[in-house]
Amino acid sequence: MRILVIGSGGREDAIAWKLQQNPRVEEIIIKSSSLSIEELLKIAKEEKIDFTMVGSEELLVKGIVDAFEKENLKIFGPNKQAAMLEGSKAFSKDFMKKYGVKTAKYENFKNSKEALAYIEKQDYPLVVKASGLAAGKGVIICQSLEEAKKAVQEIMVDKVFQDAGAEVVIEEFLEGVEASILSITDSKVILPFISAKDHKKIGEKETGLNTGGMGVIAPNPYVTEKVSEAFQKDILEPTLRGMKEEGMKFAGIIFFGLMITKKGVYLLEYNMRMGDPETQAVLPLLESDFLEMLEDALEGNLDANKIKWSKDSSCCVVLASGGYPVSYQKGYEIHGLDKIENHVFFAGVKKENRKYYNNGGRVLNIVATGANLEKAIEKAYRDIEKVSFQDSCYRKDIGTLYFPVIEI
Ligand code: AMP
Ligand code: GLY
Repeated sequence: MRILVIGSGGREDAIAWKLQQNPRVEEIIIKSSSLSIEELLKIAKEEKIDFTMVGSEELLVKGIVDAFEKENLKIFGPNKQAAMLEGSKAFSKDFMKKYGVKTAKYENFKNSKEALAYIEKQDYPLVVKASGLAAGKGVIICQSLEEAKKAVQEIMVDKVFQDAGAEVVIEEFLEGVEASILSITDSKVILPFISAKDHKKIGEKETGLNTGGMGVIAPNPYVTEKVSEAFQKDILEPTLRGMKEEGMKFAGIIFFGLMITKKGVYLLEYNMRMGDPETQAVLPLLESDFLEMLEDALEGNLDANKIKWSKDSSCCVVLASGGYPVSYQKGYEIHGLDKIENHVFFAGVKKENRKYYNNGGRVLNIVATGANLEKAIEKAYRDIEKVSFQDSCYRKDIGTLYFPVIEI
């Protein structure tokens, strides 16, 4: 089989690594997600691709799955209708409300005057979100009415996120601990993967600016049995019911972004693709065949008994360029890659004459698994200490739990 993976980050490197384990795979071609659907269609035909997997959300929301299917090309992922669950927060919140998926209270606004009138009467903190895709930057947590006014002004009037801000979701602030649960669906069942915990901030103890993710542990220690049960009943089951009633038929990933609070487990958002860097930590724990699982989903034949997860834990630490997420220099040679004993996935790396250089903000993902979380963390850090380039940096506290487990 010839496989096309679209996207060139650490997530896609991990996807390709896992797909490669299937003996039927002859070649995997990785192409950038900045190409257009037309260009990718052309590549898929020219390269005689048998199976395509898309890493990030933009092309899914634009309808790449519909375009490939129209040409009878096999592709895994949500069609345009289902991708709206990620592509429009207003749509996904209305879907959650309609089908009783537990989520923060909210209102949607297309008119900035109405939004401004609404925020006058709310409690703070309050969350203001651009409804459309904004590369993970469209969510503003406002501590006061003044901040909320500024957020509405920037998103709706100044249009800092362009069309993504034509509509906003304004919602209740939830206090708790986040968890990422990826899952696979064939629209008949949704089968959850091992839970994960992302570390979004650049600074230790979750301080400083937001990033694309500086590390992940899996499973997520806050996802206790009770939390899993609440997730199943309050989120997964009503989501599946909603998909069926809305006639959403697709094979794809649903990544549930959860907030675990004292009042139960809430759904913050759906992502209709795998997480980055969640994927890098979760796939090394998958013992069964990944390609077969994706093919089963496409055939409407997902079988929980065929999917086997390791009992181990996993830790992914991201090596970033100094200055990320603001500004950073590219082109420094990376040293020590040959000394890594665990997994290394390439995110922002350029290879030239058998040498490797940093070529992005997040550069490498080091991933280790171990019999328990402490062992996985220790192994990942032992490896990352061996790799460096000028000004390279990483968080030293991936997997440190700053909050006690929440009793729900
Ligand atoms: P989203 O893109 O909706 O997942 O939001 C991005 C991030 O903003 C989440 O991962 C949370 O850290 C935070 N966030 C979003 N919605 C809320 C909320 N209602 N309460 C508290 N934090 C939130
Ligand atoms: N790690 C969060 C995301 O992929 O959206």
